[in-house]
Amino acid sequence: MSLARNLFLPDPEATGALAAALAASRPELAVVHLHGDLGAGKSTLARAWLRALGVTGPVRSPTYTLVERYPLAGGGEALHLDLYRIGDAGELEFLGLDDADARLWLVEWPERGAAALPAADLEVALEVNGTGRACRLAFRGPAGAAWLSGFDSECRLRGLPEP
Ligand SMILES: Nc1ncnc2c1ncn2[C@@H]1O[C@H](COP(=O)(O)OP(=O)(O)OP(=O)(O)O)[C@@H](O)[C@H]1O
Ligand SMILES: [Mg+2]
Repeated sequence: MSLARNLFLPDPEATGALAAALAASRPELAVVHLHGDLGAGKSTLARAWLRALGVTGPVRSPTYTLVERYPLAGGGEALHLDLYRIGDAGELEFLGLDDADARLWLVEWPERGAAALPAADLEVALEVNGTGRACRLAFRGPAGAAWLSGFDSECRLRGLPEP
């Protein structure tokens, strides 16, 4: 069984629908690494994901703060990181994330924090393709395998094109 899915996201709304399907099927604790060049659509996906989890206030880009934290209605918090400007992976220690009751990690530029980050259950790779985005999902480990089957059913329920 392949643990990867390839999709084409023609517009930001499609990215939003993907985020909603991933949010609805996610495991209780999910670590997501978001790969892709500048402007590939990582923040668009993260913002839609947070909205799908009921975050209603402003969703700021963590470009300079490195992390933004959001309490979740069901308990715990979501962490949105953007490590593009991190000096070295050691800086992650100073963000106080050890104290976080994290249920969801959405990490842009994870390669820059590599060793200091928890391992991904899902890696999302986005790439500009025409006016849309090509997207590859790679689900990792036992949590990822369960997530994938939930994600596939969620796509069927929502009438999203089956990857
Ligand atoms: N599926 C899509 N189709 C077309 N345009 C999209 C899609 N997803 C996002 N975009 C657009 O791409 C632009 C850049 O998106 P975004 O800021 O999310 O990129 P990013 O990967 O977070 O970049 P950075 O690395 O600079 O943080 C935005 O204008 C957004 O509307
Ligand atoms: Mg971004």
